[in-house]
Amino acid sequence: MTRIACFIVAFLALASSFASAYDPSPLQDFCVAVDDAKSAVFVNGKFCKDPKLVVADDFFKHIEAGNTSNIFGSAVTPVTVNELFGLNTLGISLARLDFAPKGLIPPHTHPRGTEILTVIEGTLYVGFVTSNPANGKNRLFAKVLNKGDVFVFPIGLPHFQFNVGYGNAVAISGISSQNPGVITIANAVFGSNPPISDEVLAKAFQVDKNTIKYLEKQFS
Ligand SMILES: *[C@@H]1O[C@H](CO)[C@@H](O)[C@H](O)[C@H]1NC(C)=O
Repeated sequence: MTRIACFIVAFLALASSFASAYDPSPLQDFCVAVDDAKSAVFVNGKFCKDPKLVVADDFFKHIEAGNTSNIFGSAVTPVTVNELFGLNTLGISLARLDFAPKGLIPPHTHPRGTEILTVIEGTLYVGFVTSNPANGKNRLFAKVLNKGDVFVFPIGLPHFQFNVGYGNAVAISGISSQNPGVITIANAVFGSNPPISDEVLAKAFQVDKNTIKYLEKQFS
């Protein structure tokens, strides 16, 4: 190969390693993520633990009810690749959702994953909103769910879960990414660091700047 061809091949190899940001299909049985590079091979953006060193506990995690003593009355306990290294490259994760009475998981999106939720205990009012239509309004799809009910929130769409029952509620969500990410909409808009300019937000939400300052104070 000429030197220029070598550069092109090297560049494409580099570009494709950056481009595999979506959860890839696994090329092996498993690729347990590991921090110690000495016992690792490098695959798909994370080090994989040497399979000879992998143990059952790499695929195991125990979770308990989350603490709902907070202003939202809810707790999300995630089990992503950051908590369970055996999930690496497998394109799936889980979260346990706990709710006190009237507890809310406020509108948020998962930029990288579809979520499928089942109610284990209690009654939840849940919903998601579509992306902007060509004309007309974003549609809300919402429903009250009881124990045993299942609901799906398509990838990237804003959604919420609210406990409308008399007692606590518990739900389990599977999410189609090892690292689905979460963008809580109010925090992203009114609580960013540094803040988005008041002028931008006042115009975007069609309110005065004092209202924006008030909202920002709630999320600072
Ligand atoms: C739950 O969180 C509250 C507020 O942070 C704290 O006071 C309380 O001790 C926590 N409860 C448990 C069981 O950890």
